[in-house]
Amino acid sequence: MPHENPVPHENPDPAAMREQYRSTPLLEADLAPAPMEEFARWFQAAVACGLYEPNAMVVSTATPEGRPSSRTVLMKAYDERGFVFFTNYTSRKGREIEANPYVSLLFPWHPLARQIIVTGTAARVGRDETAAYFRTRPHGSQLGAWASDQSALVDSRETLLHRYESLSTRYPEGEQVPVPPRWGGFRVTPGTVEFWQGHENRLHDRLRYVREQATEGAESAKGTAEAWRTERLCP
Ligand SMILES: Cc1cc2nc3c(=O)[nH]c(=O)nc-3n(C[C@H](O)[C@H](O)[C@H](O)COP(=O)(O)O)c2cc1C
Repeated sequence: MPHENPVPHENPDPAAMREQYRSTPLLEADLAPAPMEEFARWFQAAVACGLYEPNAMVVSTATPEGRPSSRTVLMKAYDERGFVFFTNYTSRKGREIEANPYVSLLFPWHPLARQIIVTGTAARVGRDETAAYFRTRPHGSQLGAWASDQSALVDSRETLLHRYESLSTRYPEGEQVPVPPRWGGFRVTPGTVEFWQGHENRLHDRLRYVREQATEGAESAKGTAEAWRTERLCP
């Protein structure tokens, strides 16, 4: 559960904050053949540890001029194709992805001394996939998706609440809320996936999967073990 009303610490010193990470080494031989399989193992472990919101990930996008921006979103699905999140297509991130599909994802699993960093490209999921997920959202979140023109300026909180209230009169609890046309999912297809495991004395493990360019006639290797090579990076 999140802290509802955090009380500020008087004088925290970030320079004095230092943890020693202790864990078993991450070895090449233990890696799954494909990164999404390895991701599934790590995600299952994060859930089993009771990590708070293990599906929260930082998505970084960039304008075509290379100006980056980041924000947290919730991963709502993953499989061998990649990672799915839902958002407003006209938000800052939505617009940046439309103009430049290259993105980065980061899962910051600090309590496990782990992080996963993905680079790849994002593309809209099909409308049927968006609709299927939208139907699973609570009624209030469905209305919220309509009420918020995400990333646009708004003059006050009252304006938002007012929009929400008029929508809840139009679509009372129990009534089906249509899927907002400007809202939906993006799937991130990974090009690289780095698994980072912290260790003592900053001798961390960094193992990265890199998608091999599929050569002609090797299409069948796409998405399978042969399509990925792994490499170790200095911490
Ligand atoms: C834990 C957490 C989860 C979030 N999940 C989502 C999400 O799934 N989709 C989304 O659009 N925004 C989500 N947000 C809000 C975004 O971080 C961000 O404020 C919003 O999407 C607007 O970003 P943009 O203006 O850069 O496009 C989440 C924020 C936090 C802190």
